Amino acid sequence: MVRISPSILSADPLDLRSDIDRALRSGIDMFHIDVMDGHFVPNITFGLPLVGALSKHLDAQLDVHLMITDPEGYAPLFVKAGADIVTVHVEATEHLDRVLSSIRECGAKCGVTLNPNTPIDALRGVLDRVDLVLIMSVDPGFGGQSFIRGSLERVRELVRMRDDLGVDVPIEIDGGMTPLTVPDVVEAGVDIVVAGSAVFSANGRDIEKNIEALRQGIRQGLDRRN
Ligand code: DX5
Ligand code: ZN
Repeated sequence: MVRISPSILSADPLDLRSDIDRALRSGIDMFHIDVMDGHFVPNITFGLPLVGALSKHLDAQLDVHLMITDPEGYAPLFVKAGADIVTVHVEATEHLDRVLSSIRECGAKCGVTLNPNTPIDALRGVLDRVDLVLIMSVDPGFGGQSFIRGSLERVRELVRMRDDLGVDVPIEIDGGMTPLTVPDVVEAGVDIVVAGSAVFSANGRDIEKNIEALRQGIRQGLDRRN
């Protein structure tokens, strides 16, 4: 099964509850929350209070993507606020092992991610100690950017590395996912597709229709994979 993790970055901030409810009614069971600090990336978004409120009111997995410098201090706080998965960037910390362990110790799943120009090999040392690997298929910071095609080969490289090491960690992809780009990434081997604008702002914000179109893309990719 390949899951969709809608990124609420592209939801209507004044109508967030209703956008999320529409996605839930379409069978969505996880949401991607982009936390940006205006330093690691040139944008500022959500923080602990929103994760806390979502965790209190939603029966869905909260997939928190930290785009913040030095996440050591904040990562455990996001777990305490209710995040189910906390993902950190390899470029953002000198202490990757320590921050990943602290996420698990606080009771959440830990994820690791890397920017499109960071070699996949940077993951080798931690692959057996993470619960998720996120491949960025755009430079992080904004929704609505175009998919970087070279990400396909990066997914394949990661699948090979995962097989070599004999680990079974799910691969998530984030950036530029649309019904047209999804089949190729699913064929390449991803397990979770993050989609922001393709869910919440495409086609006049027809969230139900957008989710169905992405699911159709997933089915096409799976057909080609088998
Ligand atoms: C970008 C974020 C993404 C963003 C994706 O830095 O990490 O999660 O919401 O947006 P789309 O799906 O519109 O490319
Ligand atoms: Zn993200």
